[in-house]
Amino acid sequence: MGWFPCSGSSKHTSKKRKKKKDSTNSVQLGSEKLKAKNLLGSKEDVKDGESSQIAAKTFTFRELAAAARNFRGDCLLGEGGFGRVYKGRLDSNQIVAIKQLDRNGLQGNREFLVEVLMLSLLHHPNLVNLIGYCADGDQRLLVYEYMPLGSLDDHLHDVTPAKKVLDWNTRMKIAAGAAKGLEYLHDKASPPVIYRDLKCSNILLGEGYHPKLSDFGLAKLGPVGDNTHVSTRVMGTYGYCAPEYAMTGQLTLKSDVYSFGVVLLEIITGRKAIESSKTGGEHNLVAWARPLFKERRKFSQMADPVLQGQYPVRGLYQALAVAAMCVHEQPNMRPVIADVVTALSYLAAQRFDSDSTQGVQNSRWTPATPPRTKRDGDKRQKGGSSEARW
Ligand SMILES: Nc1ncnc2c1ncn2[C@@H]1O[C@H](COP(=O)(O)OP(=O)(O)OP(=O)(O)O)[C@@H](O)[C@H]1O
Ligand SMILES: [Mg+2]
Repeated sequence: MGWFPCSGSSKHTSKKRKKKKDSTNSVQLGSEKLKAKNLLGSKEDVKDGESSQIAAKTFTFRELAAAARNFRGDCLLGEGGFGRVYKGRLDSNQIVAIKQLDRNGLQGNREFLVEVLMLSLLHHPNLVNLIGYCADGDQRLLVYEYMPLGSLDDHLHDVTPAKKVLDWNTRMKIAAGAAKGLEYLHDKASPPVIYRDLKCSNILLGEGYHPKLSDFGLAKLGPVGDNTHVSTRVMGTYGYCAPEYAMTGQLTLKSDVYSFGVVLLEIITGRKAIESSKTGGEHNLVAWARPLFKERRKFSQMADPVLQGQYPVRGLYQALAVAAMCVHEQPNMRPVIADVVTALSYLAAQRFDSDSTQGVQNSRWTPATPPRTKRDGDKRQKGGSSEARW
């Protein structure tokens, strides 16, 4: 799975960066230099990141090669568009995941720098921790906390008989946690951060299926002041990209809400955002789901068959209602992420007990009355009165 430019040229940027010296924060990584101020405002601007320090540790290539046993095959955790990810043990005995930039790959130094800067400045229980990086010569490696349960993608789409099926409660817990990570980026970080690469493979799972968002190389500073969007080359992953962003390159916080809706649909249905083995109506998850959203009696057909009916009917309907709003074609009809967090936290708190009579066979749907929130005053969202709200 990899990143792609939905249109335009490759992700590499060949633009020369200015080398003029000034007093702004800057991070020097090998021959590359990027100003923290340009990416995340000045240190003082990043108000709610617990730390305004660039705290990531630097490692030598030798240290990381030793940690990952010379990048042996049996240490390999997975591979993405950036390169391979290995499990390693540092001298301190800490277990880590080491991502090695593929020097022939599509993704470049800029994403590496954005990732280091973003993760150094942003801290939240639902964002993966960056422990450090290596920029020795032309080597580029990122060192993350090790997430023992791998990615959500592995659990939803790479099901093996040995792997436990994710039950309904766990699915809602993961959805609520991922939404909280996104809420932090949108509403707590200042200026706001648009994540741009929300997908199941970027939601990593810790003990107890605690979810954390990873991969910030594509993240963008969101609009400030009265602006509602930033214009940028279209990047992201096919199947998760909001239609208006794919068409116009205008990126808003609602582009992330769309991607979140796709992830939520995957969590509920067990289907992939893009099912390459299928054609026609079943190829694209959102296109498949849209007509079904209109027919409430078909909602139960949308639940992941591996759940075998073990979900609360009302909870399923409410979760589908949230997903449907998030993937609305009109960005201003999508909810703000804070309201999605409220709705999903409510659903995650409703524990489904498969032994009780809540299940699909015994339950009757009643219209949901999730808690109302008061986010209309949110300055960052200029969608006007037509915003979809809980
Ligand atoms: N911190 C981590 N802890 C444990 N496993 C990880 C960690 N980071 C990545 N992985 C594993 O490595 C795999 C590859 O991750 P990577 O982020 O490189 O690619 P991807 O998310 O699949 O694709 P993309 O490059 O498009 O983001 C993940 O699916 C996951 O299984
Ligand atoms: Mg990833």
